[in-house]
Amino acid sequence: MLIAKGLKKNYISKEKTGFLKSRLKTVEAIKSLDLTIRPGKIVGLLGLNGAGKTTTIKMLSTLLEPDGGSCSIDGLDLTRDAFKIKHIVNMIAGGERMVYWRLTARENLEYFGKLYNIPNNELNKRIDNLIEFVGLNERANEAVEKYSKGMKQRLQIARGLINDPKYLFMDEPTLGLDAPIARDLRKFTKSLANKEGKGILLTSHYINEIEELCDYVYIINQGQKVMEGSPKEIASIVANCTNKYHIKINSFPDKLKVQLETYLSAIQSDYQLDGADGSFEICVSTHKDIQSELIAMLSQQTKIISFAAMEPKLEDAIITLSEVRAYEQAHA
Ligand SMILES: Nc1ncnc2c1ncn2[C@@H]1O[C@H](COP(=O)(O)OP(=O)(O)OP(=O)(O)O)[C@@H](O)[C@H]1O
Ligand SMILES: [Mg+2]
Repeated sequence: MLIAKGLKKNYISKEKTGFLKSRLKTVEAIKSLDLTIRPGKIVGLLGLNGAGKTTTIKMLSTLLEPDGGSCSIDGLDLTRDAFKIKHIVNMIAGGERMVYWRLTARENLEYFGKLYNIPNNELNKRIDNLIEFVGLNERANEAVEKYSKGMKQRLQIARGLINDPKYLFMDEPTLGLDAPIARDLRKFTKSLANKEGKGILLTSHYINEIEELCDYVYIINQGQKVMEGSPKEIASIVANCTNKYHIKINSFPDKLKVQLETYLSAIQSDYQLDGADGSFEICVSTHKDIQSELIAMLSQQTKIISFAAMEPKLEDAIITLSEVRAYEQAHA
């Protein structure tokens, strides 16, 4: 099991203060983060740009040393036992970094495999399997610089699996992939967890991917956790603060307009109105579950053509929670 407690990471960066003038500034990328990854589970790490997802993954992969806190992975200490930990973890980053462009796919995988001291026979077998899995068979002996973006990304995936890690940290792994290979990767990620018992940490900007794959989700903002839970739990918490209804009615009498405005402003909710073809579409955003009250009010004065309560989405959760946290900080 991976248990991180109070992880911290600061970056020191240069800030321009004028012409040819600069000073050093500390960026608190991760302020204090607790995180648990169990074998066989896929954990999602969500947050807006700059929230600290990549920094977290780099620390867990031993690429960056934490400035505070602790992390144990199967009983090993992230800092003290970094060398041993390198053998049981790996990361897959989105984009085109972390492979050598002058080498072929096969040479890249041989190089990275040798860093882990994998015996030649075993390594060759793994390389064949991985090349097959990522669909690079026909181009495996060509220099990576001639690959398309998606092909480089597929090689990254093979590289991240070369040491058969027990814990795999995936930083936007499907970025830039064609839909079919992204779908295969999602399926494969699931089986790495379910069948092979790997513990996986996944960041993604594709909310559907997180909802489909993750058993548990952490939402972070400005280097701190704002919420954790199953994707469903988080979505339902958000449902309490962002209910949305799309309603179509065939007339909108003035009396109803006044009544609706009074009702919604009393509960601090909002609505948008769109009228076309003699019918009206109302979109209500509210902090309360007002479905039955709304139906009762509308049906007394007009005909309801359709009424849809929108499913709360994890994406709404991230935005809402991050906004709430930013507001709290600004008014602390
Ligand atoms: N090398 C660096 N030097 C200085 N600041 C950095 C460095 N790398 C990241 N940061 C800062 O640390 C914070 C967290 O960045 P990080 O890349 O971890 O975010 P992220 O959640 O992965 O964002 P994204 O969704 O854009 O990938 C940001 O404020 C970022 O500007
Ligand atoms: Mg990132």
